[in-house]
Amino acid sequence: MIIKPKGTYDIYGSDAKYYNYINSLFSTIAEYYNYKFIRTPIFESSELFHRTVGETSDIVSKETYDFVDRGERNVTLRPEGTAGVVRSYIENKMYGEVNQPIKLYYSGPMYRYERPQAGRYREFTQFGVEVLGSDLPIQDAEVISLAYRVLEEMGIDNITVKINTLGDAESRVNYREALVKYLEPHINNLCPDCQNRFKTNPLRILDCKADKDSDILKNAPSILDYLNEESKNRFDKVLEYLTILDVDYELDSNIVRGLDYYNHTVFELVTDMPELGNASTLGAGGRYNNLVENLGGPSTPCVGWACGVDRLMIILKELNKDSEITDNVDVYVMAVNDEERLTAARLVQDLRWSELKVEYDTLDRGLKAQFKAADRINARLLVILNSEELNKGIITVKDNLTKEEVKIDENEIIDYIISNL
Ligand code: HAM
Repeated sequence: MIIKPKGTYDIYGSDAKYYNYINSLFSTIAEYYNYKFIRTPIFESSELFHRTVGETSDIVSKETYDFVDRGERNVTLRPEGTAGVVRSYIENKMYGEVNQPIKLYYSGPMYRYERPQAGRYREFTQFGVEVLGSDLPIQDAEVISLAYRVLEEMGIDNITVKINTLGDAESRVNYREALVKYLEPHINNLCPDCQNRFKTNPLRILDCKADKDSDILKNAPSILDYLNEESKNRFDKVLEYLTILDVDYELDSNIVRGLDYYNHTVFELVTDMPELGNASTLGAGGRYNNLVENLGGPSTPCVGWACGVDRLMIILKELNKDSEITDNVDVYVMAVNDEERLTAARLVQDLRWSELKVEYDTLDRGLKAQFKAADRINARLLVILNSEELNKGIITVKDNLTKEEVKIDENEIIDYIISNL
């Protein structure tokens, strides 16, 4: 038997129900906010991720699925969605479109060679949004509140937005200097990864999972004390809008994010569900005002986020949302012989094209077994076709809730069913 690759899983049965529910709720809400759908390739040239996510990030240094294709090109399975969207924005010259800013949403599989554990996989699904072309703090707040509302609408109510700012380049240079000075005497007491980060990207030490409870990190200087006037005012405005939009946020100066492209606002949406262990971040994002330009496009301020669908599936299962995400069937049509089955084939098709969810037997089961099958899939109305009655132009309909049975003229059957559901 061939088995699935480590860190992947099949989505079927009740998982499939959650997967579709999450994606469809997300796209419905994104459309309310007037975001447009985009789909970019699942593999891109490796260079794209090296130049965006960052050479020193964990993702690029340890986690990408890289390969050389048959045409000797270096390609990478996308570890995240932002880089591809930005590549597409530049390549398709979306900056020249009349309707600005460009507001996009996406959903699809991403690949990271991580150590699999609860809520962390090597193939996982993200849905996310990116807004390209707006620099106003109200845009940061809209993007964050969209994520917050989507999660809230799914019934997850203990969500907190942990928010921080990385400020502009000047603020970050000042902060980096202060942080390096503070960390220098302590660096040998931090984990080996942090000792490396100290040389390559010291800010990343702040969100180290291994050292997160150490006093060294807890007492580190906060970037909020090193912001210049402009960065500080900008961040205050974002927070003011979030308050107006009723978004529950918490300042957390240790949030620096693991991807290199951020500046100004950065945030994570977290929940305290124990089932997710170390993977309690449901979504994350921030502003990335230099990325488009770094990839060769015109200077374009951007902001976005992505949420982990797999983690949401775990939560919805835990919250027992199963009963709310109904997959009940409207009508079950019963037939046991050829004549009845001919009528059934046509009736089932007509009912389905009347936008009803309809099932019937294709296993040649007896009537009793068909009643049981109808019960198991929670069929609401049972249409019982019987040759004798059909010859008289009559069809029996049973309400599976009230158990009431009625005889209906076959010409009125569709109208009857529609008005009784
Ligand atoms: P990220 O923080 O790397 O950000 O991922 C966002 C979310 O994807 C995480 O919060 C988590 O829910 C989910 N996720 C990440 N890795 C895994 C995994 N191995 N298994 C399951 N779920 C996972 C980004 O990817 C950025 N592109 C977000 C962004 C968009 N920033 C600006 N625009």
